[in-house]
Amino acid sequence: MYDLIVIGGGPGGYMAAERAGHAGRSVLLIEKRALGGVCLNEGCIPSKTLLNSAKLYDYALHGEAYGVTVEKAALDHSFVISRKNKVVDTLVGGVKALMKSNKVTVIYGEAKIVDNTHVSVNDEVYSGKRLIIATGSVPVIPSSLQGVTEGINNNFVLTSREMLDITEVPDNLVIIGGGVIGLEMASYYNSAGSKVTVIEMLPKIAGTLDDEIATILMKSYQKKGVDFKLGTRVTAVAPGSVIYDGGQVKADKVLLSIGRRPAVDGFGIENTGVAIDAGKIITDEHCLTSVPNIYAVGDVNGKYMLAHTAYREAVVAVNHILGKRDFMRYDAVPSVIYTSPEAAGVGETESSARQAGIECAVVSVPMAYSGRYLAESAVTDGICKVVVDKKNRNIIGVHMIGSYVSEIIAAACTMIEMQMRVDDAKEIIFPHPTVSEMIREAAFRL
Ligand code: FAD
Ligand code: NAI
Repeated sequence: MYDLIVIGGGPGGYMAAERAGHAGRSVLLIEKRALGGVCLNEGCIPSKTLLNSAKLYDYALHGEAYGVTVEKAALDHSFVISRKNKVVDTLVGGVKALMKSNKVTVIYGEAKIVDNTHVSVNDEVYSGKRLIIATGSVPVIPSSLQGVTEGINNNFVLTSREMLDITEVPDNLVIIGGGVIGLEMASYYNSAGSKVTVIEMLPKIAGTLDDEIATILMKSYQKKGVDFKLGTRVTAVAPGSVIYDGGQVKADKVLLSIGRRPAVDGFGIENTGVAIDAGKIITDEHCLTSVPNIYAVGDVNGKYMLAHTAYREAVVAVNHILGKRDFMRYDAVPSVIYTSPEAAGVGETESSARQAGIECAVVSVPMAYSGRYLAESAVTDGICKVVVDKKNRNIIGVHMIGSYVSEIIAAACTMIEMQMRVDDAKEIIFPHPTVSEMIREAAFRL
């Protein structure tokens, strides 16, 4: 009998397996596709690899703003895809090595839960004292939307998985859903030469992103030629076009990116008594489900569908198994959109704080106050916003758009996690010149 059986080898699953193995527990990890899950194979890493090539290409094209002229700049899309595959292979190899060095047994195949302590895979049944379900999520595919099923079958409608693998850049790309996947893919394919149209049913892009930052991001895309149809409902997908309320738009490929849902079907959860609500496995602060020996980490619990949340949840679940005191806090989960410019935020936005009844003070400073930002950016519309709870002057939100913000946001996470007061932030010595100094600039104004 294993101490722990983990189902799913994505960030949540492989981190849990590694931590438990590291602590000397016997661990079986079952993965049906590839170690690294969506994140390494068809999500975070592939998309960031593509976006980096696009960023370099954009710099080369517009280098004259910095006194640099590049003749015949070109983006070789099929090379970018093959480079992406190499990056993925290297990282997946790293995860395999990590499992080996922590003595985790890995079996490839589809796991089926038999009961609370038994899991079958490849016709063998294995027993485990505890189970961690880390099966991730799958794209939402509205098969009731006219033409979608046919479109998927004939490779006209793609999800992010296929979009990150096509070797030809479509002339006309229509993206249904202006969330994170839609925006990152719009950014890459716009740079790669597609005419991109984003159709979003809400009146704003990027869901919960700070409103002002979402507007700046959208304007920067519009300047680059991306067309947005906000507050627009798609009514059908037909060969060569997407039809929406009030019109239609030509499409050579359609990316469907209207959200993802937890992967809870088809592997025997119903044999356990684990409680599910609205398609998500219910978990407590230790990532424990309603069954005392079964945990659920990562996208499958539907709390935050982000790799960094999955990693943390995995650590918390394993610590709980090991009897160490640890629990999940979700108030400092950062979110980043890795476009150019990057957008990043953590904690409350002005509007979410107000909705939650928190009396807050908000300051927004232009990134152009930063010497480094100005020295390095031809476009100067970035901002850094800090949200402070008036009651105790704690920093409860930081939101930024501009260069390096995907990296800077980690400092803001620490401030919120440590319940830092804005006055304490003023005492931090930020390296100069950096864009990160803008957090201190905002703090001085609060
Ligand atoms: P997954 O990574 O989905 O892994 C689940 C694994 O379980 C899969 O490998 C699957 O094959 C396996 N599995 C499922 N069922 C079974 C079964 N019955 N038996 C055996 N194995 C099974 N997040 C970020 O934080 N930053 C980003 O930049 C980012 N970019 C993204 C870009 C894209 C295009 C996409 C689609 C997602 C992105 N995400 C990003 C989200 C991130 O990929 C997920 O949050 C993360 O992968 C979740 O990890 P997980 O372990 O819960 O699940
Ligand atoms: P999303 O939830 O971010 O965005 C989906 C968008 O589609 C929303 O704006 C929604 O209003 C819109 N929408 C829904 N139905 C629609 C319809 N019928 N017509 C038009 N618009 C519609 O989901 P997305 O982009 O698919 O990404 C899934 C998840 O993957 C994200 O929630 C995120 O957790 C993760 N991800 C994270 C990234 C990052 O951290 N940088 C990058 C990519 C994905």
